[in-house]
Amino acid sequence: MSFPTAVEAELDRRRRRWRPLLWLAVLALAGAVLVAVLLLVRVLQSGTPYYPDEETHFRHGSIGAETASGIPYKVWKALPTLFPEAFGTTGDYRAFGFLYDEDDDLPIGISRRTVSGVELVWFNCAVCHTGTVRNSTEDPPLTISGMPAQQLDLHLFTRFVLAASRDPRMAPAPLSAAMRDSGVGLDPVEALLWKVAVFPRLREGMIDRAARLSPLLDRQPDWGPGRVDTFNPYKVLAFDDDARALSDQEVVGASDFPSIFQQRPREGMQLHWDGNNTSLAERNLSAALGAGVTPQTADHAAIERVARWLGDLTPPASPHRPDAAAADRGKAVYMETCAACHGYRGDQGYVFEGARLGTVEPLASVGTDPARLNSYTPTFQQAQLRELFAGTPYAFRQFRKTNGYANAPLDGLWLRGPYLHNGSVPTLRDLLRPPDERPASFRRGRDVIDPDGGFVSPACTEGPGCYDTSLPGNSNTGHLWGTALPEAQTSDLLAYLLTF
Ligand code: HEC
Ligand code: HEC
Repeated sequence: MSFPTAVEAELDRRRRRWRPLLWLAVLALAGAVLVAVLLLVRVLQSGTPYYPDEETHFRHGSIGAETASGIPYKVWKALPTLFPEAFGTTGDYRAFGFLYDEDDDLPIGISRRTVSGVELVWFNCAVCHTGTVRNSTEDPPLTISGMPAQQLDLHLFTRFVLAASRDPRMAPAPLSAAMRDSGVGLDPVEALLWKVAVFPRLREGMIDRAARLSPLLDRQPDWGPGRVDTFNPYKVLAFDDDARALSDQEVVGASDFPSIFQQRPREGMQLHWDGNNTSLAERNLSAALGAGVTPQTADHAAIERVARWLGDLTPPASPHRPDAAAADRGKAVYMETCAACHGYRGDQGYVFEGARLGTVEPLASVGTDPARLNSYTPTFQQAQLRELFAGTPYAFRQFRKTNGYANAPLDGLWLRGPYLHNGSVPTLRDLLRPPDERPASFRRGRDVIDPDGGFVSPACTEGPGCYDTSLPGNSNTGHLWGTALPEAQTSDLLAYLLTF
């Protein structure tokens, strides 16, 4: 047995003094490694829910728009808390005309995808292509996939998002507090990730988008519910065009949301309102770009799944019950005056046949508002062909510049009001009147069926949703076919059209 020397005793004392600190250091290191691992595990998370049901996929499935255009789910949830003044009485996105299925906390047409650990949300096809109808204000609305989202005010929504990007409430502290209050607070690991990567990118992204889009919206009348400018936002967001440099001729291009039933029989037809593309696949892909997908982020499998389902999606039968004899007489008038351009409704459903169906009617002949046609310029067309999906099997080849609007099939016509490419004529009855007898202004965005075809559209002079036909792009002139018939024939024709 030996006794420790004085030196050993001193060493032992020091060791004992340092030991707790050593342990602390080890713990800190382990903690840092743990946080790093947790962060890494989180950042590696990517993916999107799969919906086995086709219609649920259409309404809620992701087509790939979130990655480049979306915002975090938690921000989406917090915005109503943060900006109560913009979200009206319901306190949710209904304020902008978004629709909800009962079983989801996101509106129809808003899909989710986790990218590098952050769950993002943005548009899919259903946001613009699903609407509601009812027989009277007392009835509950019936939601129909494939009909135009006639209540969705994307202009109002875009304006809101752009204004929010400049609002001090979007700073990390108030935004985090609002997320907590909305029940979607950040956990500690997430908070770190957001601090480093999410908050800065969110703000930068929103400010960048505002800088490009605001000058464009400033040059356009409000689109109002049920419409979007198809190509001009694309010019400034994807091709870096300066909105201030767009010509007056092209800068207004608001288009009514079309219905998108029964796409398969439309293969090979010149469609889009101006008939600028004959390929169904390209129209679908181009539509996905409009939803915020980019060539890098497109989920081709998901888009093709939607496209396949739309191929045979038929509109629900018209609930209008016009006098059968009148409708029969009206059919004779229609076959004589309209069917060559539009096809017709037969006993077994819509017949996609007509000598001029799916071709373009020159503007000089159809005479409707030229703005949408002019918004699609040869310069833009060439950029599309040159740049979009270039070098891949998806490269655009079919887009062309046309000189008019397309002679399109009229299936599901009862769900398509207001009518014409700019949605300038509220009812079918109005479309059969000469332009100076059509309503000069009316309120859009209702879903109660009008017995004259389309939706009840009260007269108005101003305010949100009031459509003024005197504004650029909004003219209700043209399409004179069927406007000079004897009154009895007009009623018969209307009776037949109400059965479409
Ligand atoms: C932001 C709203 C919006 C979204 C999202 C959207 N569309 Fe559309 N869609 C439109 C508008 C507006 C048009 C009319 C374009 C034009 O000609 O000006 C259109 C046209 C179409 C057409 C051509 C209709 C025809 O017969 O001329 C098809 C098909 C279509 N969309 C399918 C889709 C699909 C599939 C998706 C999802 C991949 C989608 N859309 C997403 C607004 C949208
Ligand atoms: C020479 C071809 C041609 C004839 C004939 C014709 N149309 Fe059209 N129709 C068009 C074109 C082109 C458009 C698109 C115009 C636009 O949106 O600016 C259109 C649009 C429509 C629309 C609006 C569709 C929608 O979704 O908003 C309806 C309804 C319609 N036509 C009904 C008729 C009826 C009824 C007749 C017969 C009385 C008729 N058309 C005769 C070419 C024709």
